[in-house]
Amino acid sequence: MTDLYAQARQILRDNDKGGYTLPTHGLYPYQWNWDSAFAAWGFTTFDPDRGWTELETLMTGQWEDGMVPHIIFHQPDPGYFPGPDVWQGRGPIPSSGISQPPVAATFMAKMLTMHPAGEARARAIWPKLKDWHRWFMDWRLDQGAVCVTHPWEAGRDNAPDWDAAMAEINADDVGDYTRRDTSHVDPAMRPTKYDYDRYIKLVQIGVSVNWDQEKLLAVNPFRVADPTMTFTLLRANRDLLAMGRRFGEDVSDIEDWIKTLEAGADTLWNPQIGGYDSRDVRSGAFNGILSNASALCWYAGINDARALPAIERMLAACTYGLPSYDPAADGFEPLRYWRGPSWPIMNYLVGSGMEEQGIDAAAARIRADTARLMEENGFAEYYDPHTGAPAGGGTFTWTAAVWLGWAGHDTEDKRGAA
Ligand code: DGY
Repeated sequence: MTDLYAQARQILRDNDKGGYTLPTHGLYPYQWNWDSAFAAWGFTTFDPDRGWTELETLMTGQWEDGMVPHIIFHQPDPGYFPGPDVWQGRGPIPSSGISQPPVAATFMAKMLTMHPAGEARARAIWPKLKDWHRWFMDWRLDQGAVCVTHPWEAGRDNAPDWDAAMAEINADDVGDYTRRDTSHVDPAMRPTKYDYDRYIKLVQIGVSVNWDQEKLLAVNPFRVADPTMTFTLLRANRDLLAMGRRFGEDVSDIEDWIKTLEAGADTLWNPQIGGYDSRDVRSGAFNGILSNASALCWYAGINDARALPAIERMLAACTYGLPSYDPAADGFEPLRYWRGPSWPIMNYLVGSGMEEQGIDAAAARIRADTARLMEENGFAEYYDPHTGAPAGGGTFTWTAAVWLGWAGHDTEDKRGAA
């Protein structure tokens, strides 16, 4: 039997750049924020020291205002666009100017359980995570829900959630640029040029105000309250609070943040679709999108029975759940990035949250499907939810981490010796 554990560990080792891990060679040649948190957890299953180092390296990119960037450009790589010269981040290390879903505190809590001897390192990281979470609370809230100022901030780059807000952006003057992603991966699996023009335009707008958050509030045409960010930050604050109590830290403001975010999550409930939805802050309108982010409520500690039927319907429509977009929707595309494919990392967040909240049948289904995807088709970035065909980048760090930390445990292929 092929030892998928050995393969997964080898992927982490091969993508290790010494202190940080690439999501995959070629397509993503730098340190990505939430990829890195998954990598830290994956490493902790067999090399905890390396796991802690990953989180420490991530925090070296933190800006003075607390923001932890979504990409940290440790070493130049001409194979990626947009690089440090385009982003012009103003942190201690060249970086992008936006953040990403804050899953690091939750993985740190897991790492501490797996490796209690890492406590001193966790204590040193904790205040940095708190500063980062405060930055979200200061700059990204709308009615208590967390907004993104660029589709890439939510990690779900080309999700249909952004279509209405993107349509309001005039990118006619974006200028010439050369994409690199489509030279690594089939363009049919990547965002369109229409989307890309707007991604770059939003970067140019951020650069024009030197990523000053106060000014960005006035000039940025894109502001969408999003279930990915709201639920991950809510969960991350719960974990930060629990660790802070254990470490004897002052956690009173974190208690307030949790209450604010719980109220904010409620504002994302869209009765029209029977699900948690994204909301365009500029227009005030819901986007009417059921996605895998709609299913993150359980991960956030919100056991909402109203949310289950729609998620079960999406699962029932696929052979390999959970799809990133409602298969019944017109714009569903099974191979295009966040418009349909099944993503192991989201499956893990959703499935583990359901396990914690006792949503057993759906959780078991998602976990088993996720394991089958890797058993049948290796460690891809994402997969066709109908056929299981691998898509996007290959030998992917966070997919391997999901096998090591979660998906592999229910299968025949038992965890091998480290
Ligand atoms: C990309 O380059 O597609 C990344 O997802 C941006 O974060």
